[in-house]
Amino acid sequence: MNTFKQIGVIGSGAMGRGIAHLFATAGVPVLLYDSRSEATQEALQANRALLERAAAKGKLSREALAGALACMGAATHLEALADCDLLIEAIVENLEAKQGLFRALEQVVRADAVLATNTSSLSVSLIASACRHPERVAGFHFFNPVPLMKIVEVVRGELTDPQVVQRLAALAGHAGHFAATTPDSPGFLVNHAGRAFGPEALRILGEGIATPAQIDRILKDSLGFRMGPFELFDLVGLDISHAVMESIHAQFYQDPRYTPSALVPPRLASGLLGRKTGQGFYRYQDGSVVEEAPQAPPQVAITQPFWLDCDDSVMRERIAAVLSVAGVVLEQGDQPSASAICLVTPLGEDASSVIARKRLPSRRSLALETFVGFDARRVLMRQPALDALVLAQACQALGADGVPVEVINDSPGFIAQRVLAGIVNLGCEIAQRRIAEPATLDRAVQLALGYPHGPLAFGDRYGALQIWQILHQLHELYQEPRYRASPWLRRRVQLGLPLTTPEDPA
Ligand code: NAI
Repeated sequence: MNTFKQIGVIGSGAMGRGIAHLFATAGVPVLLYDSRSEATQEALQANRALLERAAAKGKLSREALAGALACMGAATHLEALADCDLLIEAIVENLEAKQGLFRALEQVVRADAVLATNTSSLSVSLIASACRHPERVAGFHFFNPVPLMKIVEVVRGELTDPQVVQRLAALAGHAGHFAATTPDSPGFLVNHAGRAFGPEALRILGEGIATPAQIDRILKDSLGFRMGPFELFDLVGLDISHAVMESIHAQFYQDPRYTPSALVPPRLASGLLGRKTGQGFYRYQDGSVVEEAPQAPPQVAITQPFWLDCDDSVMRERIAAVLSVAGVVLEQGDQPSASAICLVTPLGEDASSVIARKRLPSRRSLALETFVGFDARRVLMRQPALDALVLAQACQALGADGVPVEVINDSPGFIAQRVLAGIVNLGCEIAQRRIAEPATLDRAVQLALGYPHGPLAFGDRYGALQIWQILHQLHELYQEPRYRASPWLRRRVQLGLPLTTPEDPA
């Protein structure tokens, strides 16, 4: 149940106006204030126009429109917020500015008023440290656009009164938003959980494994993401995304899990920020991507039989069916014949490792992704010794049923396996560090980041053991702590439990 009677929103920019729109629509009176009074007038006009459009489309009744408009007003000076029992700041992302504002507000507002910050990257405890009453300060982190992104993080500073957290969560629920309660840790919950998708894609790009467009296509088609990581970088702006990556990496004291990509600074210096500068990982004209003409694969005669290294009989049959469309024979022997093209199907390993371990002929052997995605897009992974004619035959044979084939360079865990494993592992680490309950984590990530599944549910869907195996192989190959498995994951694999199994707090 909502316990706040009058909200003051300070900062009438993109976020402040969205927050005012949300609560006014929910029937809670809101006063907007900005140090530039014209910003408040613009915000009120924009909100009015939005609400009237919603009413014209029949999404909002006439009474609801009148109610929402009556709930939204302007404050021309800070003292006009004296009667508010909740103050939400959405001013510039600067520690001194936010601390200065909260100090000034403490002089104005009632002793029981709550001070909330919409900061996305500053420590709530650090902002609160400037206040005489840090126990009434909390984070209330919304996402843009606020009315549509139905989630808010309620961030508990070290000294925040638990009642303040509860009241903010109840207010969010009253306005139809999911409240994800989380402690004051770097990136809070959502921005932390998002550190596996884009950064691992940059790592894959940096290693010359595939192009941005290939990585985007593969992740969308095989794992069901609505946008690829490079499309997302271009949409958000690489400068913004990189600042988040650097900030979280620094706040975790350079933990290699969060290492940003060295590919980025030269791109920033060159203005390749994304849609807003007309070029990022893609080029844009009039707001649309300039499509590069796809390279048609060379047409070759398939003269060699295929041999498959795969114990899964269902997958064997599916691959045999595709090959049969191309009129290709799949050998059934334990060992390949002297002319066979050998397909290996690694989980977490790269093609070179499997081929060497199984002593397969390197000129005739390549890897096929079978663990994540096979129906929508097929991924073939070559290795440095592969013969070009063998690759051309494999592309043609494995695309014979019309499914597009993507050829990438050698990588432990192809592309989708390693990005998936990274997302799941980071989710496990977030659960382990008690940054969120499993259910809160999964829901928050789906709502805020638009992932098809939350990190833990993703892991359970593909198998915790398999995720752990992929990470183990990544860790083996790179010898980097970036890929170390979270204890949360390891223990649930050892005990045969779902990754969503919660754990009591200490
Ligand atoms: P914005 O630049 O659109 O708006 C900020 C507004 O605050 C401006 O109108 C400015 O005049 C006003 N302002 C600056 N200093 C002030 C002060 N001392 N007193 C009163 N008003 C002041 O910024 P935006 O995007 O709305 O962000 C606001 C806050 O929300 C930042 O802390 C940002 O990190 C955070 N945030 C932003 C998100 C986004 O996607 N834009 C998402 C989540 C959080």
